[in-house]
This record gives sequence, structure tokens and C-alpha cells, in this order.
Amino acid sequence: MIDLQLTDKTHDEERQGEALIVDAPLVRNGRKLYIESYGCQMNFADSEIVASILLDQGFETTGDYKEADVVFINTCSIRENAEQRVRNRLSQFGAEKRRNPKLIVGVLGCMAERLKSKFLEEEKLVDVVVGPDAYRELPQLLSEVESGHKAINVLLSREETYADISPVRLNGNGITAFISIMRGCDNMCSFCVVPFTRGRERSRDPHSIMAEAQDLFDRGYKEVTLLGQNVDSYKWKGNDADDSTEIEVNFAQLLEKVALISPDLRIRFSTSHPKDITDEVLYTIAKYDNICNYIHLPIQSGSSRVLELMNRTYTREWYINRIDAIRNIIPDCAISSDIIAGFCTETEEEHQETLSIMDYVKYDFAFTFSYSERPGTLAARKFEDDIPEDVKKRRLSEILIKQQETSLYRLQQFVGKTVRILVEGTSKKSDKDFCGRNDQNAMVVFPATEGVSAGQYVYVHIDRCTSATLLGTVVVEEPEIV
Ligand code: SAH
Ligand code: SF4
Ligand code: F3S
Repeated sequence: MIDLQLTDKTHDEERQGEALIVDAPLVRNGRKLYIESYGCQMNFADSEIVASILLDQGFETTGDYKEADVVFINTCSIRENAEQRVRNRLSQFGAEKRRNPKLIVGVLGCMAERLKSKFLEEEKLVDVVVGPDAYRELPQLLSEVESGHKAINVLLSREETYADISPVRLNGNGITAFISIMRGCDNMCSFCVVPFTRGRERSRDPHSIMAEAQDLFDRGYKEVTLLGQNVDSYKWKGNDADDSTEIEVNFAQLLEKVALISPDLRIRFSTSHPKDITDEVLYTIAKYDNICNYIHLPIQSGSSRVLELMNRTYTREWYINRIDAIRNIIPDCAISSDIIAGFCTETEEEHQETLSIMDYVKYDFAFTFSYSERPGTLAARKFEDDIPEDVKKRRLSEILIKQQETSLYRLQQFVGKTVRILVEGTSKKSDKDFCGRNDQNAMVVFPATEGVSAGQYVYVHIDRCTSATLLGTVVVEEPEIV
């Protein structure tokens, strides 16, 4: 068992694509490694693969980069400010390197892939640049650096899924874990850098996904989140577990397989795509109590014209149809979204269309962003980034205010009711309180109660709420639940 201490992350930070710092002190013999991650959940899952590869090399690790021999920063390119944050951090590592010239500094992830060898030219202190599909090469690349050369591997792959590498769990709670089920993205949303940094979409084989989920459950984990940029297009073809017949597995079938591991293992997944989410997926969610009633279904914009420019390949009406299907098939399903304010040529009326669809859906939660032009994307090549910063900012704040209202509205619906939650541990704000999420992914905080511990399912009566959190008390008897 490896003791890994991570900075706690909020729901908010998980999807910002830029906010979170992870320092992962792995403890073993040998040289010392420090890893820090930025970006989406996929990047955090990748850091767990990287940690596994280097542990096999006998690395000791540390939570303090000042005592490390190797510092890795796993980077995100999704918006300009995400990259700026990485550069600021690199200059701090640079100061350390001047003090300790033997320190090896490596840049991993999406920024490594986007900038490639330019990174080595621009940032003199960086020794090694490794793209998301080249982590198996890390030991060789580190050897090259030790023999006095700069090293780089940014080859993207059509096959790599790291299926056989057992991730070192960097999430300290021992209750919830991510499982990557696919890599890359074949959509070409015009604003998005991910297809360039992560390469072609490929699905991981279901046998290794099942084995990973089963292993986590056997080790006491109670919740897994299946990760992909577009989980609805998961598709795998190959031999069944006995190697006898050829099978094809889609996302609904994969969900069902994982749900059948145990009713005590909760399943979440992210991200769903409005063009691909099928009724079959919705019926599968409805059929199994342990598949959480929560769907992250990013809309990006409420205007069909803007959606077309974004190359999202659905319209406002199509999106509303998918929302209606969710509400019909899974009546108590929570829905969250990603929204971009101020995309190229967006008019005031089109911005209003975004606000009006937010009224229609009443999202439980939304991640909201100001459009940030990314070099090389379709939008950067085809359209002018013509919405002034102050207009983007104002539209974003209108979106944020609307979202705060609907988040509060959604949470208020739980007040006075009793919900079943999975206890994740003590609350961030006070160790006298516990926290956990309900089925719909709402965070619930309640006073620590004797006999209740992390990893248990408990019923909590909700007494009140803020716009982000439900507050309540544990009830002992099994009640009628929502
Ligand atoms: N695969 C997911 C999204 C991954 S990126 C999906 O299709 O929904 C997470 C979010 O970042 C996106 O949904 C989008 O809202 C936002 N984003 C991506 N590129 C952006 C850009 N150039 N400017 C602002 N926000 C962006
Ligand atoms: Fe980017 Fe679109 Fe792919 Fe999401 S689906 S990762 S927004 S290209
Ligand atoms: Fe960022 Fe790459 Fe994820 S660009 S959001 S870390 S896929």
C-alpha cells in the first residue's frame, strides 16, 4: 500500500481543465520523483499511469519538489490561462534548478504535445518533453537526459490505451477512483485543442476495464468514474473473456458490465456528448440503481448558429430533445454542462439563447468559460476572435449568475428529504464534519457521527443548503429515499 497525499479537489476544480495542483509523494527506495498535474480528470488518470511506470523503476517520491531528483509537470492546453499557469510554475522549478543543476525537469501532457520541441527552445530549463501517448518511454527518456541530452517523445498512437498498466492511485480517499475507458477524440469542435493534443479516439478493451474495476472494489473502493472525452462513442470489438467468440461492446453494454460487479459499487462516467448519447444508455442508467443518476452533457452554446460554427454537430432543438429524453427515462437525473461565453461572432441575441436554454434545463451545475482562442484549431484558422474581452466577461458573469440561481434551486429540492450518500471522508472545512455525494452528485456535509466512516453508504436528512452544498444529519433507520 502506498501512502499518497493529494490536495483535495472540488467538483469545480475537477472540470476546470486548469485549476488543480497534485503533488504526489510516493514512498520507495531510490531517486526522488515529484509530480504535479493540471487539467482534466484524464490528465490526473494519466499521472497515475506515469507514477506506476516510475515506481516500477524503483523511484522514491516526495511531496516537496525542492528535494526531488525528477520533477514532472503534467500539463493542460485547453485555454490560454491554463498554459500560463504552467509557465509560471516552471519558472519556480527553474529557480530550484539553478540551485540544484542535477534536477531533471520534465513536461508531460497536452502542452508537451502541442508545443513539441518548441518547448525545449522556449523553456531552457526543461530537460524532457513527453506527449500523452509516450509514457511507456519515460525510463529510456530519463536515461537519455542522464547521459547529458535533452529528450523528447511526442508521438501520438492509434492503439495506446495503457490497458495493462495498473495505475498507482493518487487519490488519497481510497473510496473513489477514475478508470480511463478510452483516449483521444475524433470530434473536431472548432474551439478545441484536445484532438490535436490527445490524438485519435480509441477504446480500451472491456476485459482490462472490468479487471481494474473489480480490483478497486476488492480493495474497498466504492465508486468508479469511467472517463473519456466522449464516452458515448465507446466501441470495442474483439474476443470475449474466454477468447472464444468475437464480441462488440458499446458504452451502454460497458456500463452494464461494470454495474454488475456489485450493487455496492457506484458507477459514474464523463463526458457525454449530445450528438451520441443514446436512449439505450439512458435505459441502462435507469435499470441499475448503482449507475448514478447524473449526466454531464455539455451544451457549449444555446444558439444553433453558434453550435454550427463550433462544429458541435447538433442543434438547440436536438439538445432539448436529448434533455427531454433524459427527463422521461430517468426522472430524477441531475444534469450538468460546460458553457462557453463569447465564441467568435456570437451576438447578444445568441447569448440570450444560451441563457434561455439554461432556464429550460435548469442545470444542477455548470462549468463556464470565456472563449480562448487556441492556435491551430479550426476556429483559430477560420474565424476572428472578435468578441471584446469586456463583452465576454459580462456574458460570462450573466451565465454564472443564472447558474448560481439554478444550482440553488436544484439543491433546495432536496431540503427536507432524506438522501443516500457514499461517505468520502472528513469535510474540507472542518474535521468535525463528514462529506459525501448523493446519487445526483450533490455534495452533502453532515456532522461526524459515531459508527459512520468513509466508504459507507448512509442516509442523511437534508436540513438546509447553500448554492453548492447540502447540509444535514445522519438518520439511523432506513427511510424512504429520494
Ligand atoms: N470532451 C468534452 C470537453 C473537454 S474540454 C466535451 O466535449 O464536452 C472541457 C471544456 O472546456 C469544454 O467542454 C469547453 O466548454 C471548454 N473549452 C474547450 N476549449 C475551449 C476554448 N478554446 N475556450 C474556452 N473554453 C474551452
Ligand atoms: Fe474537444 Fe469536442 Fe472532443 Fe470535447 S468532443 S474533447 S470539446 S473536440
Ligand atoms: Fe487539458 Fe488536455 Fe484535458 S488540454 S482539459 S489536459 S485533454
